[in-house]
Order: sequence, then C-alpha cells, then structure tokens
Amino acid sequence: MDDPVYKAALARLVALLDEARLRGLPNFDCAALATCSSDARPSVRMINVFVPQNDGAVMFFANRLSGKGCQLTGNPRAALCFYWSELQEQVIVEGNVKEASEAESDRLWGRRTRESQLAAWAAPQGETVAERGAVRQHVQKFRKQSGFDRVPRQSDWYAYSLEPDRIEFWPSGWHRAKERVRFVAGEAGRWSSEMVSP
Ligand SMILES: Cc1cc2nc3c(=O)[nH]c(=O)nc-3n(C[C@H](O)[C@H](O)[C@H](O)COP(=O)(O)O)c2cc1C
Repeated sequence: MDDPVYKAALARLVALLDEARLRGLPNFDCAALATCSSDARPSVRMINVFVPQNDGAVMFFANRLSGKGCQLTGNPRAALCFYWSELQEQVIVEGNVKEASEAESDRLWGRRTRESQLAAWAAPQGETVAERGAVRQHVQKFRKQSGFDRVPRQSDWYAYSLEPDRIEFWPSGWHRAKERVRFVAGEAGRWSSEMVSP
C-alpha cells in the first residue's frame, strides 16, 4: 500500500513493536483479537502478531476450525488491541481479514515457536480434554517423534492477514493527556489522520 498516511501509521505501530521488543517486554507482540459471529456475538482473546513488513498487512496465526476461525469465516472483520503498559501506549487496528495462501502460511509457520507448533499437533484446538495432563502428554509424544526435525504446519492452521482501515494510537494515561491520533481509510481507500480528544 503506497498511501503515505497509511505508511506513517504502520511505521508508528512497527516502531512501538520494535521498542517493546528491544526493551524485552514479555509478549511484546501480543494483542487482543476481537471477532464477531454473523449473528452479532462478539468474542475476544489474545494472539501473537507478526511485526508488519514492507507496509503490508498485520498477520497472525490461527486454526481455521477454532472459535475465531469460524467467526472469521462467517464475518471476516476483526479488531486488534495492543497495550504495552511500560510504554503507556495502546494501539487499535481494525480491518477486513483474509486467510493467507498455503505457501504464505507455510512461510509464517516457520516463525512460530516450536512449542506452539507442537501444541498445534497435540490435539484439535478447542476440543474437550478428557483427562488432566492429556495435552501435555500429546505434546511430549510429538516432541519425541519430531526430534530435531522441522515441525510441519498442521493443516487446519493458517496465517491470516488483517488489512487495516483504521489505526488509532492512544499514547498516554489520562493524566498525561497526549494526543490520541486516528488514521482512517476513507472513500476510495485514501487515508487521512485526525487528532481526537482522549
Ligand atoms: C499471550 C498469548 C498468545 C496467544 N497467541 C495465540 C496465537 O497466536 N494464535 C492462536 O490461535 N491462539 C493464541 N493464543 C490462545 C488464544 O488466546 C485462544 O485461547 C485460542 O486461540 C482459542 O481461541 P478461540 O476459541 O476464540 O478461537 C494465545 C494466548 C495467549 C495468552
């Protein structure tokens, strides 16, 4: 996306992610992902987000049969809310979501942690677990089986890309009253920005 206003907004998000990473903040790349079923029931949960590259979309990984996966199939619209308390920064990103190709999903799967890759194989996400410790045992089994080999992508897991049409920065606590800035894609996808009262 070539729009300079969009590029500025995305660069500001990437700079915050970089700062959070460099400061060693735990889960620096996590955000709450809100989705909504087609009958208007909202859900929210934490996810890991890939730091956007080359002015691209915001990507994350999910199981297409999970709650969020099913909601996104029926209603491909989502919002992300990042918050780093140490930086006193909140960023909200909203947009339409698309499932990435198999090739792109394979590529980004390789950037997931090995533990999350093994967990994806251990049991279908969201399925009822009959016995305490069963998931841990399954993960152990897959860890042994795979040894030092690459863990292939489990076929229900896909990368998703959220194409932002609104990005909002709320850079302080109430007491500091710094500017809250909203970037939005308007008619014909042209981006603009405005300051908003906190
Ligand atoms: C810090 C953190 C990071 C997480 N990252 C992911 C992720 O990248 N992808 C994912 O599917 N679930 C992730 N989860 C688990 C989700 O929050 C959620 O429990 C799970 O995906 C099932 O959600 P759903 O049933 O609404 O789809 C993460 C949880 C935490 C606490």
